[in-house]
Amino acid sequence: MSRVLVTRRLPRAVIERLEAEHDVDVHRGDAQMPVDEFHSRLAPCDGVVVLMPDRIDQSAIDAAPKLKVAANVAVGYDNMDVAYARNRGVICTNTPDVLSDAVADFTWALILDVTRRLSEGDRLIRAGKWIGWTFEFMIGAGLQGKQLGIVGGGRIGKAVAARAGAFGMTVAVSSRRDPGWPDAEFMPFDKLLSTSDVVSLQVPLTADTRHLISKPALMKMKRTAFLVNTTRGPVVDEEALVWALNEHLLAGAALDVYEREPDVHRGLLALENVVLSPHLGSAAMETRTAMADLAVANVLAVLAGKPAITPI
Ligand code: DGY
Repeated sequence: MSRVLVTRRLPRAVIERLEAEHDVDVHRGDAQMPVDEFHSRLAPCDGVVVLMPDRIDQSAIDAAPKLKVAANVAVGYDNMDVAYARNRGVICTNTPDVLSDAVADFTWALILDVTRRLSEGDRLIRAGKWIGWTFEFMIGAGLQGKQLGIVGGGRIGKAVAARAGAFGMTVAVSSRRDPGWPDAEFMPFDKLLSTSDVVSLQVPLTADTRHLISKPALMKMKRTAFLVNTTRGPVVDEEALVWALNEHLLAGAALDVYEREPDVHRGLLALENVVLSPHLGSAAMETRTAMADLAVANVLAVLAGKPAITPI
């Protein structure tokens, strides 16, 4: 029997699968464990199930000499030092595929919200400011015949692209190589920025994509375009985005992720043409359960001496 740490409450049935085979230490609170406590509870463990805010960095890995597997309940793994883990013989895993549809659906929810001013209208009604129907009141932007530019050629980007036809949008994609998606035009990043009506970010956070959307990038966008981010906050330079929105260099933004979660740049809070959601892209019960299931299946596989199901 091995020892496994689970850093946050997960569905009972998922924990029971782990408990059937291993000695499991579950952190019960919703709040993140302080780092010292995380490291000391990790120390005797052979496996760990972590969430996105938990860091599997060098100090965590050094604190756990017996660790064999670290399973992230997320597809993005910028919270893990995968190279260091590999050198120390620790297998890192993530949860690809099972959340692509949920994140793609949510991306479209944000696209529709920001272009048709849904959240803004909700705020207006609640503030008692609605004075009735007039011809141009809260007029938004339609999507038919416009271009959706997707930055990133991965699974979630593909699922976002697959929904574009339902809204009459054409799709452009920019990535390191042409992903060969049906009906999508592969284009250089700068051209995608300057020709798209909605730019949706679907790249993982890496050293190359940190602040990919900076002042120069924002200056290339159409003044009528919208920026949507459902990947990782630091892909966008928030300071630059606030500047660009205040200069009216783009029409609006819809953000599910932030540079310093759970803090949100005050400049964004002040803008009516910005939709803000609290990192909910994969937050559908079926999806979160599938993510937890896959993470636990990875731990069970590695601790049974089998290959991980979705190694990074
Ligand atoms: C992921 O899986 O990377 C998501 O951001 C978590 O919701």
